[in-house]
Amino acid sequence: MKFFIDTANLEQIKEANDLGILDGVTTNPSLMAKEGISGTEAILQHYKDICEIVDGAISAEVLSTTYEEMIAEGETLAAIHPNIVVKIPMIKDGVKALKYFSDKGIKTNCTLIFSAGQALLAAKAGASYVSPFLGRLDDISTDSLNLIEEIRLIFDNYGFETEILAASVRHSMHIINCAKIGADVVTCPLPPILSLLKHPLTDSGLEQFIKDSKKLK
Ligand code: E4P
Repeated sequence: MKFFIDTANLEQIKEANDLGILDGVTTNPSLMAKEGISGTEAILQHYKDICEIVDGAISAEVLSTTYEEMIAEGETLAAIHPNIVVKIPMIKDGVKALKYFSDKGIKTNCTLIFSAGQALLAAKAGASYVSPFLGRLDDISTDSLNLIEEIRLIFDNYGFETEILAASVRHSMHIINCAKIGADVVTCPLPPILSLLKHPLTDSGLEQFIKDSKKLK
């Protein structure tokens, strides 16, 4: 399973990349705004900066919602670096844009997926990734892991190469359960990734080893 970090914060991207386990980065307009980035030039430069840190798939989201505008914007984003994945919302014009980019060999990530039908349509249109949002489904008392299972089954039934990119991942159990089901990728902020490191028995065991190692010197 691949690990992407879901942030536009360069320090956190560097920290995750330094761990040696990072396969890519996802961003969205809210995450970019949180870093105070605004204006086309600043946005493009920020994606360039991310591409220089991480050698992996970098999702850059279009801000427009009409077919023509998404095509123009997506082409500008794709021209930044070969690792850019154009992130397109699951709307009617978005599906058409997915097909356009797929035909041109430009990678895409279809975002805001909340149903198996949406994932199926995005895969049919040639999306490289679909992003089902787990945390936001949990927030409305819906079984988000069931959605990952459904999409996995459908994609396997028909041999779709579209990767399931589990998004809106909030904690380590989301990550573990996605790995058990067979999601191809999880994207999440740095804390859930770091929390995978932690176990109280590791801490107490290491404390004891350090204490005993002093007897060996
Ligand atoms: C995915 O690509 C989105 O950027 C993200 O995972 C949304 O997460 P949130 O629901 O925590 O905002």
